[in-house]
Amino acid sequence: MSKQKEFGDFQTPNDLAAEVVALVAELFGLPDLVVEPTAGLGAFLSASHGKWGNACIYEGYEINRYYVHSTSQRLSDFGVRIYQQDFFPADWHQILRKENSSRVLVLGNPPWVTNSEQGILGSTNLPKKANFQRLRGFDAKTGKSNFDIAEWMLIRLIEALPESGAIAMLCKTMTARKVLRHFWKTEGGLESSNVFRIDAKANFDVAVDACLFFATGKRTEDRMATIYSSLNLASRVTEFGWVDGNLVSDVEAYTKFRELDGGSPYAWRSGIKHDASNVMEFSRCNGRFVNGLDEEVELEEEFVYPLLKSSDLGNRRATPRKVVLVTQRHTGDDTSLIRDVAPKTWKYLEDHSDQLDSRKSSIYQNRPQFSMFGIGEYSFAPWKVAISGLYKSFTFVVVPPENGRSVMVDDTCYLIPCKDEKEARLLCGLLNSKPAQSFLWSLVFEDSKRPITVDVLRRLSLVNVAKIVGRLDELTECMLSESDSLDDGQQQLSLVIEEETKYQTRRRRSEMAPEIWKGE
Ligand SMILES: C[S@@+](CC[C@H](N)C(=O)[O-])C[C@H]1O[C@@H](n2cnc3c(N)ncnc32)[C@H](O)[C@@H]1O
Repeated sequence: MSKQKEFGDFQTPNDLAAEVVALVAELFGLPDLVVEPTAGLGAFLSASHGKWGNACIYEGYEINRYYVHSTSQRLSDFGVRIYQQDFFPADWHQILRKENSSRVLVLGNPPWVTNSEQGILGSTNLPKKANFQRLRGFDAKTGKSNFDIAEWMLIRLIEALPESGAIAMLCKTMTARKVLRHFWKTEGGLESSNVFRIDAKANFDVAVDACLFFATGKRTEDRMATIYSSLNLASRVTEFGWVDGNLVSDVEAYTKFRELDGGSPYAWRSGIKHDASNVMEFSRCNGRFVNGLDEEVELEEEFVYPLLKSSDLGNRRATPRKVVLVTQRHTGDDTSLIRDVAPKTWKYLEDHSDQLDSRKSSIYQNRPQFSMFGIGEYSFAPWKVAISGLYKSFTFVVVPPENGRSVMVDDTCYLIPCKDEKEARLLCGLLNSKPAQSFLWSLVFEDSKRPITVDVLRRLSLVNVAKIVGRLDELTECMLSESDSLDDGQQQLSLVIEEETKYQTRRRRSEMAPEIWKGE
């Protein structure tokens, strides 16, 4: 990987640094010490000196000795001092708490990389602390190796900052949020927490949501931050914060619809998972099936179901263009029954056993051959309400059966199984209603990679939505008739995610018989 990337080395354009300093002067006034912790070519030290001249002291710290040398040469005439210093072992308490300087301003632009971008074992630009190393080992094992260097740096700097000081740093918007969340969860709010969006594409040629993060060193009870759409105090958008022990993206909207935060009697499920779309998914062509390898094959209809993908649901399409081979009715079912009931299907699976047996996810280990996940009675519900988890839109879609056959959704989608059209249309109407949409949007951040998660969906109380929109009677009627419906899991509040599903007791072979499946 390039040294530039490893060290998050993207120098701030002078115009942007000057704009930031002008805004910080409005927010904080005159500092007596300006510290740029990862100073690079000293864009912020230059801009600060341009603004405040000799009225304050300027210090820069930087790991790269060429930058230290060149910046020192350029700025030493202004009294700016640059020290070669690795951020991680530095004593920031000592640097930021000097006897004669209480109005310290920490200003700059830390590296924006995460350790996964660096390649966790490849880069050495990381803190060396024992507790960090342990975390790293654990996260590496669990695949959560996403340590954000800027987040770590900002937390250390704020911890070291005196009450009368302030920090103003360019970073990913997500990083600013994570830093605030850290303090909101542990110590409290930071006075004057503000997030000013910047155009990272124009300034750094990177496609990421970025901002100027500003806060003072003073702790407050108030756990909120204001978002601005630009580096301008007149561009206030909204406030996000920590409410009832959770991060919410829009405090005002959340407070207005807080009563909708309560969980639902309907359980959200994940769609079907097989990790082999080339083999398990097909288009129909002249009565035959064509898989993702362009092979035209013959299969019995018994195990073939219509399939909606994320791209269908994301574009409000409820007419399947594909079909999927469904080898089980419940997680853990014995699949060898297929051999007797549908010999062509079995032969097809055996012919592709190389691909299917080599699926990487550990969830397939010690399971019957050709197993799937995200499968249960709910998958075979005649009607569904579903949403794609890949789009940044809370668009819920009614999924009707196709030619009497239940339609599956893929594992990037979430669904509620419904016993009939009436129920599906009611739930979909509630989910797409204004109050439900406002509440859901008040929880999520648009710059998150995948804002729509089961955790978010399961928080919405469909009962309270129904109350607000005057459809409680209809919902109660549906729920009362639910007990004798097909889905015994529907009554539960908890959501079943396929990986978390306990390995179910194998069903008797007779229960797997497609004859029974046809009775849906
Ligand atoms: C995003 S650049 C910003 C530079 C400068 N502050 C600016 O705004 O133009 C990040 C800087 O952090 C420096 N850096 C990276 N890792 C560092 C570390 N461990 N200690 C100190 N500086 C580091 C890089 O060399 C680079 O100059």
